[in-house]
Amino acid sequence: MILLKNETNKDFVLKGNILYSSLDGNLISMDGAFLVCLNQKVAGVFQMLPSIYEDLEIRDMGNRLIIPGMTDIHIHAPQYTFRGLGMDLELIQWLETNTFPEEAKYKDITYAKNAYEIFVEDLKNSLTTRACVYATVHNEATILLMDLLEESGLCTYVGRVNMDRNCSEELCEESSKKSAMETEDWIVAVNGKYTNTKPIITPRFLPSCTDDLMNRLSELSQKYKLPVQSHLSENLEEITWVKELLPDSKNYSTAYDDFGMFGEYEPTIMAHCVHCNQDEIELMKKRNVFMAHCPSSNLNLSSGIAPVRKYLDAKLQVALGTDVAGGSSICMLNTMAHAIQVSKMYWRLIDQSMKPLGFQEAFYLATLGGGSFFGKVGSFIEDYEFDALVLDDKEIRSMGKVSTSERVERLMYDPKSALVYEKYVKGQKLV
Ligand code: GUN
Ligand code: FE
Repeated sequence: MILLKNETNKDFVLKGNILYSSLDGNLISMDGAFLVCLNQKVAGVFQMLPSIYEDLEIRDMGNRLIIPGMTDIHIHAPQYTFRGLGMDLELIQWLETNTFPEEAKYKDITYAKNAYEIFVEDLKNSLTTRACVYATVHNEATILLMDLLEESGLCTYVGRVNMDRNCSEELCEESSKKSAMETEDWIVAVNGKYTNTKPIITPRFLPSCTDDLMNRLSELSQKYKLPVQSHLSENLEEITWVKELLPDSKNYSTAYDDFGMFGEYEPTIMAHCVHCNQDEIELMKKRNVFMAHCPSSNLNLSSGIAPVRKYLDAKLQVALGTDVAGGSSICMLNTMAHAIQVSKMYWRLIDQSMKPLGFQEAFYLATLGGGSFFGKVGSFIEDYEFDALVLDDKEIRSMGKVSTSERVERLMYDPKSALVYEKYVKGQKLV
């Protein structure tokens, strides 16, 4: 326990009913406890406040809930405008009908500004403290989105999207060379510009990037030491298509790996992984790939059910994404509930040896699971970055005694009742 006296103005204590995951996935619950923030980090959780902290400001949250901030590991900012609409199609048709025409609009910076202001404001007020975000192929709009996110105080990775084949004429980039050159211009413009907003290399997915573009993006990722995000094995038609496009690759994962875009060089997130086989699971494990589980999206686009229990048993890095607008809500509590619910259907309909997820696991995935992509994030373990949510659940009236863990569990199934009373990212109060 350390206290730097000269920095106490930035330091404080939150008091309330605290719930967080430990590294082994167990829930730790302490009521009426003290969560100490020193230098933007967690100094500890205490039932009795140690005397060395007694001069710090105590922000008493009363009977409210205090939990770590949540990480949305996969979300598309430009798609926020049409969330909840056009949910009657599967992936490829949905991209062509709804997604590409909407994303093309972000060439117009005024449209982008109006749309991204709404997205960032809503994200700021949500349960999300950290996110890995897809933008579009447009440099100007992507930089504007990054400016807005930085201003919001949220902590994010943002990707300028690459696509030079198999997309609409208005969105398709002229050549792999031009796509890579513009991406490098964007990297140079934003790399190191912000405190909380960082670039991430973002080939949309293999069907929309030529081999030459993938090679160029891999070089950029290694040259600037930037992480990578993409989509993997979301939809059966998509997988068949990848086999046709890359006949020499053993599977979808090795196709990314052959380009050095599967975690060998830089940390990598792969969204969905609904239909991966055992070889792919082993490669994900070997390469430490983050598996972004997006259950709400998988339901909406009829993609299937990702075998998350298998991934957890294999000790993969698993995190949760809303995948808006595949997912129709940015609410991470909602996504947690869907993760549990689809795992029950997997168990019931597909494989009865795969135990469904429980609340404790969904909570871990939404906090520590995704937070780990950002470093020591997503828990109240000492020395973790101070990302915290204070939730008010007064909308839910109870007759009997309900534990702190049960109160959060119930909010998961009724997220509209979870009022974000306060929200902190790296010790800074956003809400
Ligand atoms: N695969 C390629 N692009 C997309 C996208 O925008 N959303 C989803 N869910 N999958 C994709
Ligand atoms: Fe996606």
